[in-house]
Amino acid sequence: MCGIVGYVGSQSALDVVMAGLKRLEYRGYDSAGVAVPADGGLAAAKRAGKLVNLEKELLERPLPSGSTGIGHTRWATHGGPTDANAHPHLDNAGRVAVVHNGIIENFAALRGELAGRGHDLVSETDTEVVAHLLAEEFSAGADLAEAMRLVCRRLEGAFTLVAVHADAPDVVVGARRNSPLVVGVGEGESFLASDVAAFIAHTRSAIELGQDQVVELRRDGVTVTGFDGSPAEVRSYHVDWDASAAEKGGYDYFMLKEIAEQPKAVADTLLGRIDAAGSLTLDEVRIGAAELRELDKVVIVACGTAFHAGLIAKYAIEHWTRLPCEVELASEFRYRDPILDPRSLVVAISQSGETMDTLMALRHAREQGSKVLAICNTNGSTIPRESDAVLYTHAGPEVAVASTKAFLTQLVACYLVALYLGQVRGTKWGDEIRAVIRDLSRISGAVERVLETMEPVRALARSLAGKKTVLFLGRHVGYPVALEGALKLKELAYMHAEGFAAGELKHGPIALIEEDLPVVVVVPSPRGRSVLHDKIVSNIQEIRARGARTIVIAEEGDDAVVPYADHLIRIPVTPTLLQPLVSTVPLQVFACELATARGNEVDQPRNLAKSVTVE
Ligand code: M6R
Repeated sequence: MCGIVGYVGSQSALDVVMAGLKRLEYRGYDSAGVAVPADGGLAAAKRAGKLVNLEKELLERPLPSGSTGIGHTRWATHGGPTDANAHPHLDNAGRVAVVHNGIIENFAALRGELAGRGHDLVSETDTEVVAHLLAEEFSAGADLAEAMRLVCRRLEGAFTLVAVHADAPDVVVGARRNSPLVVGVGEGESFLASDVAAFIAHTRSAIELGQDQVVELRRDGVTVTGFDGSPAEVRSYHVDWDASAAEKGGYDYFMLKEIAEQPKAVADTLLGRIDAAGSLTLDEVRIGAAELRELDKVVIVACGTAFHAGLIAKYAIEHWTRLPCEVELASEFRYRDPILDPRSLVVAISQSGETMDTLMALRHAREQGSKVLAICNTNGSTIPRESDAVLYTHAGPEVAVASTKAFLTQLVACYLVALYLGQVRGTKWGDEIRAVIRDLSRISGAVERVLETMEPVRALARSLAGKKTVLFLGRHVGYPVALEGALKLKELAYMHAEGFAAGELKHGPIALIEEDLPVVVVVPSPRGRSVLHDKIVSNIQEIRARGARTIVIAEEGDDAVVPYADHLIRIPVTPTLLQPLVSTVPLQVFACELATARGNEVDQPRNLAKSVTVE
C-alpha cells in the first residue's frame, strides 16, 4: 500500500519521480505528491485523487528543477484522501519533507508531545509527526541519516519513510520497518522505491533493505545502517525482467495483458524444476529431506486470491502426500492460537511478498518452531526473506490490482510442492509424478486454448452489465475456483457476488435463487471422480428449476450438462486436480469485461491497493 520513490542523480528528479510514481500507482491512488530540494529551499506539490491530478497541478504551477526528489502515491489509512492529508508532509518551516507507507501506531502520543513544544500539525495523518521530529533532530545538529535513525527509534508500527531536507539537497534518506523499500543503484544515480518497477527503466541493479535499516542515498552510492547506526549487511541482486514487462504492451489494461501472459507464466514457473528423468529438482526448498519426512501436517496461510490457491493446494497435498493440510486466512491465523510445532510445515503464499497479514502469520509460525516455505512472485520482498525457503513463481510483474497470472503460477508452485513432498516422502511413485508433470507441462497450451475462445464469454459479460448479483458454484477444486470467480467480480465489477460449495446449496443459499439470476457453475471432469460430476449436474438442474440463468463451465465433450446450460463455456479436458488452471481463466475474463461494461477502472478498482501492507 502506498508507492514511494526517491531519486538522487543528474537527471531532473521530478521527471524520474513522476515516471516512477506512474509505475507504482497500482499501490494506491487516493492522492499523490512530490518534493524537490531546489534553490536553497524545498518545493512540494500534492493533490488528492489520481496521479493525473498532480500532473495537472505541476503543469499549472511548475516546481523549480532539482536533481534530488521524493514522491508518493497514497492508499489512505489515517485521514481521508484530501489535499491536506496527501504526502509529502513538511515541518512548519518547510525545510524537511517526508513520505510514508505503513502505520505509525504511537503517532497520537508523538503528536501531543510535538503540539506541546509549539509545533502546528495541519493534517490528520500519522505521518506528519515524522517531518516535525526530523526537523527537530536536524536542527539539533544531526545529519539527515542520523536524524532518521533517532526518529525511527521512537516510532512504533510498520513504516517505510523517505525524506529530503532543504539543507541537504544532495541526499535522500529512507528507513524501513516491515514495509517494503528497495534501492536501485545506477551510474552516478541512486533510487529508492517500494518496488523495482519504479526504477527499472534506469537500472536493474537492486539492493534489498533489511528490517530496521536506514539508507542514505547519494549520487555516488548508498550507505546502509541499522537504526542503531551500525553498518548493515545488504544483499544485491539483478532484476531479471526489464521495463517492457511493466508496460501495457498495447493492451487497454494491465489486467488484459496479464491474463494473456498466463500460458507463459505457467510454463516459466515449471522451467528448470524438472530433471531429464522427470523428477522434481526443487533446490530452492532448502528444508532437508529428513525434516520433510518427519512432517505431520502442512498449514497454508495466505490472503485473498492467494488464499484460494491455498484451498486448491489442500486437495492436491492431501491426495498426493496423505499429509493433513489446513488452509487458513493469514489475518485470522495467529489470533486463534494455532497448534504448530517443528513437525508442521507452514506454506505462506503471496504474490507481493509484502502482505502484512501473511508476514505476521509466518512470523508466528516460526516462533512456534515451524519451518516456513514461501511461494512468492517478488524477488527480494519481505516474506521470502523471512522464510526458511522460497519457491518463486515466475509470473513477472503483476501490476493490475486484480490478481490473475500470479494465481495460476501460485497453483503451479503448490502442485510442485505437493509432488515434491510426495517424492521425498515416498507417497508418490516416480511414474505417477512423471504423469502429473506431463499433464502440467501441457497445461500452458490448454490455457492458451481457453484464451482463444473467450469472445462469447465477453459478450455474455456485457449482456449482464445491468445485473446486481452473480452467484458461483463449484465442487471439490471447483469450489475455490467459484470463490475466486466471485472475488474477481466483487473487486472489479463492484457487484454482489458469492461463491458456494454446490453441495451447500440446499443448506441455505438456494433461497437466493430467483428468476434470471446468473449462476456460474464450475463443473468437474466427468472422467475419474464422476460422482462429483453427476452431483453437480443435479445441482444445476435444481437451480434452473427455480429460475436461475445457468452459466456452465464444463470440459469439452461433457454432454451431460448441455440440456441444463443456458450458456456453456467449454474448457479443455484436464485432470481433475489441475482443472483450476483452466477453469479460472474464463472467470477472470468475465469479471474484466463486466467491469469495463459497467465503466469501472479495471486496473485500479475503487478502495483497493495491490499490496496490503497494513493489518
Ligand atoms: O500479494 P499477495 O498475494 O499476498 O496479496 C494477497 C491479496 O491481497 C490479493 O490476492 C488480493 O486478494 C487480490 N487483489 C485479488 O485479486
